[in-house]
Amino acid sequence: MAISVSNLGFVAILVLYCFSISSTEAYDALDPNGNITIKWDVMQWTPDGYVAVVTMYNFQQYRHIQAPGWTLGWTWAKKEVIWSMVGGQATEQGDCSRFKGNIPHCCKKDPTVVDLMPGTPYNQQIANCCKGGVLNSWVQDPANAASSFQISVGQAGTTNKTVRVPKNFTLRAPGPGYTCGPARIVKASKFSTADKRRVTQALMTWNVTCTYSQFLSQKTPTCCVSLSSFYNETIVPCPTCTCGCQNNITQPGSCVDGDSPYLASAITAPAKNNYAPLVQCTSHMCPIRVHWHVKLNYKEYWRVKVTITNFNYRMNYTQWNLVVQHPNLDNLTKIFSFNYKSLNPYGAINDTAMLWGVKYYNDFLSQAGPLGNVQSELLFRKDPSTFTFDKGWAFPRRIYFNGDNCVMPPPDSYPWLPNSSPRQTISILGLTTAFLLSLAFLLVHA
Ligand SMILES: *[C@@H]1O[C@H](CO)[C@@H](O)[C@H](O)[C@H]1NC(C)=O
Ligand SMILES: *[C@@H]1O[C@H](CO)[C@@H](O)[C@H](O)[C@H]1NC(C)=O
Ligand SMILES: *[C@@H]1O[C@H](CO)[C@@H](O)[C@H](O)[C@H]1NC(C)=O
Ligand SMILES: *[C@@H]1O[C@H](CO)[C@@H](O)[C@H](O)[C@H]1NC(C)=O
Ligand SMILES: *[C@@H]1O[C@H](CO)[C@@H](O)[C@H](O)[C@H]1NC(C)=O
Ligand SMILES: *[C@@H]1O[C@H](CO)[C@@H](O)[C@H](O)[C@H]1NC(C)=O
Ligand SMILES: *[C@@H]1O[C@H](CO)[C@@H](O)[C@H](O)[C@H]1NC(C)=O
Ligand SMILES: *[C@@H]1O[C@H](CO)[C@@H](O)[C@H](O)[C@H]1NC(C)=O
Ligand SMILES: *[C@@H]1O[C@H](CO)[C@@H](O)[C@H](O)[C@H]1NC(C)=O
Repeated sequence: MAISVSNLGFVAILVLYCFSISSTEAYDALDPNGNITIKWDVMQWTPDGYVAVVTMYNFQQYRHIQAPGWTLGWTWAKKEVIWSMVGGQATEQGDCSRFKGNIPHCCKKDPTVVDLMPGTPYNQQIANCCKGGVLNSWVQDPANAASSFQISVGQAGTTNKTVRVPKNFTLRAPGPGYTCGPARIVKASKFSTADKRRVTQALMTWNVTCTYSQFLSQKTPTCCVSLSSFYNETIVPCPTCTCGCQNNITQPGSCVDGDSPYLASAITAPAKNNYAPLVQCTSHMCPIRVHWHVKLNYKEYWRVKVTITNFNYRMNYTQWNLVVQHPNLDNLTKIFSFNYKSLNPYGAINDTAMLWGVKYYNDFLSQAGPLGNVQSELLFRKDPSTFTFDKGWAFPRRIYFNGDNCVMPPPDSYPWLPNSSPRQTISILGLTTAFLLSLAFLLVHA
């Protein structure tokens, strides 16, 4: 009986483990409606086109775009040009040689637009602009989850019958990962004045929806999980080569040691790809490691310490977040020094939570080095019907860092409760039985 129950528990963890791996490639089960919606509101027709306000809304619960920010591209349907922009700019002007007098801001068939930086003069700003392309997540910072610019388009349609919506939208963050659908003409947006006594509306509106896939973003994982507990001194490290292997022969300089004299020059050396991490040499080679330590066991509560370590010398993570799935998160009693929100993707099951840093205290995860970590402790209330330290129950089922799945160690390596392996259970059971039998034998024959 004892054997089959523990095997069942093991199979259940194994199934969860496989599920967490395959989820890397599918849509995000913990944020099934997550998307970035780009809305174009035509505010005015002009003699040769229109003026539109373009707004990007980050409707993702826990995935954000940090510095150096988003870039948005599209392909014009006809021969449109951009006369001018406010609160954003095209990265390249392109060939405007056919124009005399007024020269457009951008003549490219496929313009690429970026946000302006904070501190832009007021006459070049509009509401929600000029944040250096940073787009925070909907849960963490809804006030900064939208980004806007204004665009004056020429050589375009001048009525809602003749205007052609742009095609082939691309959103980069600034790396790949997002896929955008076609622009769809929707009901015109309505705007109410500050005193809410008058409502105006756009002349025409179209929406584009972009969704994220970690598989498109990077082929290898970027984050791993290590585990430890008070009841077993084993520290289960991140699986070796989770995010790459140390190989100085085929890939020299793929990592650096923290005490290497070349560290400073390696950090400042121009990388082949600006966003490629420069990681500290570890067996897992991941830029981010999340450590989950089961720290204390009280009568009615138990306590976990979570530490996030940055091994990337080229990245400071601002507004980082963690998504954790664990069956006891429905009874999280207290969290020290992180913010917390329960996520409820399926209504009934309340086992997933988002954690993020406290503003100005630990919302900034420094580049690799002595300051490159943040930590917090979680206090859970035990539910006697489910609580156990056995079979790895106290460890998380799934962890995301900034929306990307963190690779867990294989479940059969989790720290065991002393004497809880199936083999040991049998032998103790066997020994006890033998002892009792011999005791009975002695008693009977006494
Ligand atoms: C995008 O997200 C919003 C907010 O969650 C949701 O209402 C909308 O249906 C989503 N759009 C798509 C195409 O999934
Ligand atoms: C275009 O404008 C006309 C009125 O000029 C309006 O009746 C029609 O609904 C508009 N179409 C769209 C797609 O906005
Ligand atoms: C869409 O954009 C991508 C990247 O900018 C480009 O490779 C592709 O050829 C474009 N497709 C069309 C139909 O314009
Ligand atoms: C278009 O996007 C806006 C802003 O995200 C949203 O409020 C509106 O519901 C969307 N319309 C449709 C039809 O999806
Ligand atoms: C790889 O090279 C780096 C930088 O020279 C060095 O710090 C590291 O120890 C080397 N790793 C191995 C496994 O030789
Ligand atoms: C990270 O932030 C520190 C302190 O603000 C700064 O000195 C360092 O250059 C930053 N590193 C990167 C890679 O941006
Ligand atoms: C989920 O659990 C959290 C933490 O105990 C609680 O605050 C929240 O109200 C719960 N939500 C639902 C829908 O049960
Ligand atoms: C939280 O713990 C208490 C005490 O054990 C239990 O009665 C309650 O059902 C738990 N809540 C949930 C949502 O499991
Ligand atoms: C601790 O857990 C490991 C599995 O990770 C196991 O091999 C070891 O026997 C356990 N130690 C004790 C004292 O039970």
